[in-house]
Amino acid sequence: MAVKVTDTTFRDGHQSLLATRLKTTDMTPIAQDMDSIGFHSMEVWGGATFDVAMRFLYEDPWERLRTFKKLITKTPLQMLLRGQSLVGYRNYADDVVEAFIDRAGDVGIDIFRVFDALNDERNLERAATSVNQSGKHLQLTLCYSVTEEGSMGGSIYNLQYYLDKAKVFEDMGADSICIKDMAGLLSPYDAFELVSSLKNSLDIPLQLHTHYTSGMASMTVLKAIEAGVDVVDTCLAPLALRTAQPAIEPLIISLKGRDKDLGIDLDKIALVDDYMESVLQTYRPLLDTPNISVIDTKVLQHQIPGGMTTNLTAQLREAEATDRLSEVLDEIPVIRKELGYPPLVTPMSQMIGSQAVSNVLFGRYQMISNQIKDYVYGLYGRSPAKIDDSITKVILADYEKGNTPITERPGNLAEPEIEKSQEAIKELSENIDDILIYALYPTLGLNFLRIKYGVDPIPEEIKDISNPSDTGNVSDSNDSSAALHKSDKTKMFNVYVGEKCYLVEVDPVNSITGIRDQSTELVSPDKPKSNNVRRNNEVLAPLPGIVVKNIVKAGQKVNKGETITVLESMKMETSVPSPIDGTIKEIKHEPGSKVLKNDVLAILKT
Ligand code: CO
Repeated sequence: MAVKVTDTTFRDGHQSLLATRLKTTDMTPIAQDMDSIGFHSMEVWGGATFDVAMRFLYEDPWERLRTFKKLITKTPLQMLLRGQSLVGYRNYADDVVEAFIDRAGDVGIDIFRVFDALNDERNLERAATSVNQSGKHLQLTLCYSVTEEGSMGGSIYNLQYYLDKAKVFEDMGADSICIKDMAGLLSPYDAFELVSSLKNSLDIPLQLHTHYTSGMASMTVLKAIEAGVDVVDTCLAPLALRTAQPAIEPLIISLKGRDKDLGIDLDKIALVDDYMESVLQTYRPLLDTPNISVIDTKVLQHQIPGGMTTNLTAQLREAEATDRLSEVLDEIPVIRKELGYPPLVTPMSQMIGSQAVSNVLFGRYQMISNQIKDYVYGLYGRSPAKIDDSITKVILADYEKGNTPITERPGNLAEPEIEKSQEAIKELSENIDDILIYALYPTLGLNFLRIKYGVDPIPEEIKDISNPSDTGNVSDSNDSSAALHKSDKTKMFNVYVGEKCYLVEVDPVNSITGIRDQSTELVSPDKPKSNNVRRNNEVLAPLPGIVVKNIVKAGQKVNKGETITVLESMKMETSVPSPIDGTIKEIKHEPGSKVLKNDVLAILKT
């Protein structure tokens, strides 16, 4: 039986290598050629494409899908959907899930690949029902993870775990199952074992999605094919390998004339390759890889996704503590174990990473992000392994929603959101696609809609290549925090490519060596070096960030440990506590203000 192929070039390929920045107009010229190649499906939407289209490209994400649907008429279009989180970063209410899937299906999605970062089937339930009702193809997804042993097995992520999950998914009405190996951790022989066993126990087709990150993906795909996988994900060579998918070209030749022949014409692929090769020249600044090696061997060592290490380095740079990276890398498996071994995939990878940075800089669980509290409380779903009771106690000690974790489906707790969103943007639009944009991204979405309807102009800084300095997984950013990791050493350059000129911001990578120029010192000349504490009873920002809200007012009495301000830092919300008992003399910053490390947030008197 021939093996089928899903092409990821228009979604995961450029999300992995170019921070999702490929514009629709750079894809449309080959859309019809791609349609004629004979792919099983083309993944064109979902993940960060929704977010980035609005945030950086000023494109309507719905319009992109509509355009593809017009040009690609034979090949089914596929999207990646984050279960109850859809294409956003939190669990939405059921009415949003239903409306979104309904619209996505109507506008052009034929295959919905649905996953939950914790493999919690309850977070897939509502999306699965909606896809089934719409008559579209429901693919439910096993997020592949390992523990510190680094391979399939052990007490959690063993063969039985995946077989049991897949069975649950099949019973939920899945039309197919996908193994999603987002960090490139699935080794060739584990793939062989996993695929053989799943093929034995399932009656529905099986697909493999893997990333090249660790260098194993081509071998893994080949072994999966030998084991009988029905569909594999590949990418066109110009956007393949590195942290993206394996390339299709060598696979075509490897299987040519054999019983697993892909049945795809290499000459047709060569034509679209040529096009991509030329159009991607202008995106070169985004291919920002500090390493010579195209393989990230650290992933094999630590099981930590490459993008996560990049984010950690950036966070440590902001905290002026780049020398502590190895401590943070050691802390990650410890936290992960304590928190029930969540797979290191968005958003858990950021949450665990930021907590590891906090633990190393300020002491273990001295500062806990609200997201980690929400997770331990059960708002993200059920953890793969039980969270240690003593850890739960520490993390939920002063949590506003309660000290005992919930056991029900988190989606049950969310109030309907569509009507409120409708009301909120009624002056701008009554279109359901716009209402969904707002429901998913209240801040970013509203900004975008104001531009779309001409209320606000397109910001000046939008050039041909938008914000190349923000290469860090845009998929990982929160709604209100773009481009947090740009350092103050950024310089602007004019770059000439042929006859075009691009304005590019360049951030030197050697700033992580700890060499600082004097300008950084001038930012906060007289700040004490210690943590978020003291000198004249000042409450200091432990890290740079944005003030989300002030919990207390001037004149109010506070106890030591009580939250003064909630800060968004390292893409996480963190409560900054009072270091002493006292009375608030002054609150220094309004919500929305940017603060630097050691800026005074509040002044207390005793
Ligand atoms: Co992927």
